Amino acid sequence: MRQEAILPPAMLGMLGGGQLGRFFVIAAHEMGYKVTVLDPDKNSPAGKIADVHLCAAYDDAAALAQLAQTCAAVTTEFENVPAATLEQLAAHCTVHPSASAVAIAQHRVAEKTFFRDSGLPVGTFVVVENESDLPADDHAIYPAILKVARFGYDGKGQARVKTQAEAKQAFAQFKHETCVLEQMLPLDYEVSVVLARDAKGNVAPFPVAENSHLNGILDISIAPARASEVIKAKAQSLAIQIAEKLGYVGVLGVEFFVSEGKLLVNEMAPRPHNSGHYTIDACVTNQFEQQVRALTGLPLGDSHLHSHAVMVNILGDVWKGQEPAWHLALAHPNLKMHLYGKHEARPGRKMGHFTVLATDTDSALNQARIARAELGIG
Ligand SMILES: Nc1ncnc2c1ncn2[C@@H]1O[C@H](COP(=O)(O)OP(=O)(O)O)[C@@H](O)[C@H]1O
Ligand SMILES: [Mg+2]
Repeated sequence: MRQEAILPPAMLGMLGGGQLGRFFVIAAHEMGYKVTVLDPDKNSPAGKIADVHLCAAYDDAAALAQLAQTCAAVTTEFENVPAATLEQLAAHCTVHPSASAVAIAQHRVAEKTFFRDSGLPVGTFVVVENESDLPADDHAIYPAILKVARFGYDGKGQARVKTQAEAKQAFAQFKHETCVLEQMLPLDYEVSVVLARDAKGNVAPFPVAENSHLNGILDISIAPARASEVIKAKAQSLAIQIAEKLGYVGVLGVEFFVSEGKLLVNEMAPRPHNSGHYTIDACVTNQFEQQVRALTGLPLGDSHLHSHAVMVNILGDVWKGQEPAWHLALAHPNLKMHLYGKHEARPGRKMGHFTVLATDTDSALNQARIARAELGIG
């Protein structure tokens, strides 16, 4: 039997109303779909531009019933959506990615264990349920990073520890929540792969991005990554293996460390990824259109890169009581500005990003550096 795609003007559902949801709404609208966004924040960036904004909690029975009745398919923009919500919706309409894939990605213990048990290269880690799980000082894992298993993002819920005593202190600060203790790796650099996989098993990886972080938050992504072809091919193939092992349908972001020349899987996100924002301006199809395509059963788009790109995040820090000097950044003809329409600028909050396009990475980087300075970033 031929599987019919969900076609415009069908209503699609989005769990979460942040910037990732907003870009999904934009992509879906461009293609002729309507979108209902579920987010408890009345000012959510995606909710503000959606056809319907259900301003309710992610487990609100009436809101979930309305999504199930009015949407042909539902997806998510954040990993902390309750697995029960996805399961409940899946009984009534198409839901991608699956509750089981999201459940793994939202829990660091499940995620790390899944990577290791799948034979993927990961750094040394120890699961910490109780204080007694924290290794003694002579263990090779130190210096290490203690990370809470749930709800950590942008470096939040992480503590760098050199000894068991410091680890105990950090574990207490995290209220003895389940954690993962990871060996602190000497990083050469970091890369990521965003891919889309459809229900038939077709996979379209985007080019590998090279990422640098500032205070635990993504600062810059460079595409294509300045890594060897061997590293780039391996990163894409590992990301594809992960998607296949999960039976994943949708857009998946996988972060990697390159440590002493070796590629190690760090973590994954069951959704488009900040390091894939360059695809909006530099690829034939962007990660959000791919999310719509994978969700609705359309053929995946061409993920090929048509320009060298440097993406820079704009955090709330640059407001300092007034709007940044937008006129300076907007004067660059090859700079694409994206502001998320967030209600309030706070330090560390992702407010927008820009992408500089060029025919080579060095000139994109140079122009990005100038625009950063003009906006007071970093
Ligand atoms: N084991 C590690 N060794 C070295 N650096 C790390 C390690 N874990 C995290 N980091 C640094 O911290 C950043 C954020 O950590 P990550 O585990 O990706 O959490 P988040 O969910 O906040 O993105 C990483 O991108 C990397 O720069
Ligand atoms: Mg990360």
